[in-house]
Amino acid sequence: MVVVTGIPGVGKTTVLNELVALAKQNKFNLTVLNFGTIMNGIMRDLGKDLHRDDMRRQNLEMQKKVQELAASEIASRAGQGTAVIDTHMFIRTSSGMWAGLPEKVLERLSPQLLVLVEANPEHIAARRRSDIDRKREGSLAEEIAFDLAWSRAIAAASAVMTGAPVKVIRNDDGKQKEAAQELLEVIRRAVEGHA
Ligand code: AP5
Repeated sequence: MVVVTGIPGVGKTTVLNELVALAKQNKFNLTVLNFGTIMNGIMRDLGKDLHRDDMRRQNLEMQKKVQELAASEIASRAGQGTAVIDTHMFIRTSSGMWAGLPEKVLERLSPQLLVLVEANPEHIAARRRSDIDRKREGSLAEEIAFDLAWSRAIAAASAVMTGAPVKVIRNDDGKQKEAAQELLEVIRRAVEGHA
């Protein structure tokens, strides 16, 4: 299993859509699962039908419970081929910055590779502002630079806990296909056991 993370608006879902197309062309068996979508479905089953951007504003104990359920569901869904999980190193909640991959989640997912998708803070700010159907907060470049650094810190901790390597993939403006190409190569190396 491969975990792909990036702060909101960095474009990880865009890169992962390109990855799916590229994997198909290259006959590489890969499935992308979005952690937020699975959490959203579990919350709906529990009677909370929420916009995806409102989940992080819920009671943290409830989010923790749903996070663990989502990790178990992902682990059980990962069948043949490589499962790629679209998620976050951390989530800004009203209680503070909360790990997207705490120990119990990492144990269930047992990733072979951790990926950080990154871009220039100014570009991320512009992407956030352009997505008018989303409720993303914070489009100040200084705050975004802090979040990129915080993600790296959590990735380092996750690398120690799992033994999995961390790869940084740049998603520069207009370069989502190049980012997907680099991602496919690093996923191949990880699952085929190359250094
Ligand atoms: P999540 O499901 O991850 O939200 P999302 O909508 O998928 O993703 P983001 O908001 O992070 O945006 P993105 O970086 O994928 O950007 P996009 O590709 O859209 O999370 C939803 C919620 O689920 C979280 O808030 C949290 O509550 C919960 N959650 C998830 N994981 C969790 C976990 N582990 N634990 C607990 N809770 C969890 O692109 C953005 C824009 O940029 C688009 O307009 C796009 O066209 C543009 N763009 C992208 N790439 C480029 C490029 N190269 N050049 C120019 N424009 C670009």
